[in-house]
Amino acid sequence: MPKHIYIDKKILPFNKTIKVSSDKSLSIRTILLASQAVGISKISNLLESEDVLNTLKTIEKLGIKYKKKKNYYEIYGFGLNSFNPKNNTVINAGNSGTLGRLILSLLIKTNKKIKLIGDKSLSKRDFSRVIKPLRLFGAKIKSKNNCLPVKIHGTEFIRPINYLENIGSAQIKTACCFGALNSPGVTVIRAKKSRNHTELLFKYLKIPIKIKSNKVFDLIEIKGLEQYKSFNYKIPGDVSSSAFFIVLTLLSDNSKITIQNVNINESRIGLIKILKKMKGKITFKNKRIYKGERTADIFVKSSKVLKAINCPSNVNSSAIDELILCFLVAAKAKGISTFKDLGELNKKESPRLDISIKVLRMMGIKVIRKKNNIKIYGNPKLDLKGNYHIKKFLKDHRIFMFSCVAALTLNGSWLIEDKDSINTSFPTFINILKTLGAKIN
Ligand code: S3P
Repeated sequence: MPKHIYIDKKILPFNKTIKVSSDKSLSIRTILLASQAVGISKISNLLESEDVLNTLKTIEKLGIKYKKKKNYYEIYGFGLNSFNPKNNTVINAGNSGTLGRLILSLLIKTNKKIKLIGDKSLSKRDFSRVIKPLRLFGAKIKSKNNCLPVKIHGTEFIRPINYLENIGSAQIKTACCFGALNSPGVTVIRAKKSRNHTELLFKYLKIPIKIKSNKVFDLIEIKGLEQYKSFNYKIPGDVSSSAFFIVLTLLSDNSKITIQNVNINESRIGLIKILKKMKGKITFKNKRIYKGERTADIFVKSSKVLKAINCPSNVNSSAIDELILCFLVAAKAKGISTFKDLGELNKKESPRLDISIKVLRMMGIKVIRKKNNIKIYGNPKLDLKGNYHIKKFLKDHRIFMFSCVAALTLNGSWLIEDKDSINTSFPTFINILKTLGAKIN
């Protein structure tokens, strides 16, 4: 099977209803929380992608059993701190920053030496962001340059922490929340706003959590050492995966799409808010609440006139995985768009800020960068003619899918490498594009 694809035809008008893959953040979190619950949890609609399958393999290595049934996964939890690995167990988080960072936080009290490794991309990413708070809980952690491999040795003598998370990273915040589960007393986290699935799950599971919020920060208090019961959970669709189809539709001619049953948690829909300000035609239908999470069907229509945006940086964290798609829309919008404080984008599976700017410039778009702020000079008549080659660089599923959307909406002849990267988050991405009529070889 070739590891690259060719696209040299714009997608023709479509009008379809689709489902995208299940939410990755919720899939990883529910497995990890089920591994610490008392009893058998059932998770249906689990995302069956590499990051999530690596999460299942990881808990299995740590002594937790799971079974795949016809429509759901059963996870057999024995309560807090019941991991029972052999000494010197090696766990592999593959490409997943979320798995790598969160699993460490569940090991602070495991009195065995565990080594965490990952793939080439994850091995370049910073782990100091979770090593720092986890050391404060009392765990012994070793790593060279704060990168993988990380060795952790938990201890009985865990103490609660009082921590300021001021990056706006849900992974750091969740690592602190998970650490609090195994810690006596009350852990206090003052966290810059970021996706709040963990807090909603804690509330649903009746784990003692109190939250006071202002516009920028959440003050979270968690009382530790409280066992909680197993649970059932049905994972909704992933808004980050939907994002590629939202932008594909906005930038295509005379097209419409309905994406069914997507998680539209307020802390995840920055992209939709940005695109609506840019005059994108996006509406929510059939809004529901499921176990504290908002879901809806997302309806999108092609939008001929798109306006530039001066994007405030306080939406960055709610659009963190989608900002590169906003850049693509800005490239086709009328006027000059600005995006600020984008440094976190370079800490993802690949340096996404650098790479997305490179791709936009390759497409002839004028982009001015000053440190982590960019200006994109939009061109509503943008119609590409050249040959574009997106080379394999680390394993960045979102750069691959972003390039496919550019190719299918802006013309040109594209060779896009690293098709397999989609297996980390959205294995059916290309198949869904084909059902919409995309010609992909
Ligand atoms: C995630 C949080 C985000 C996001 C990642 C998934 C999560 O990372 O980029 O894809 O599930 O908590 P940060 O929290 O580090 O920004």
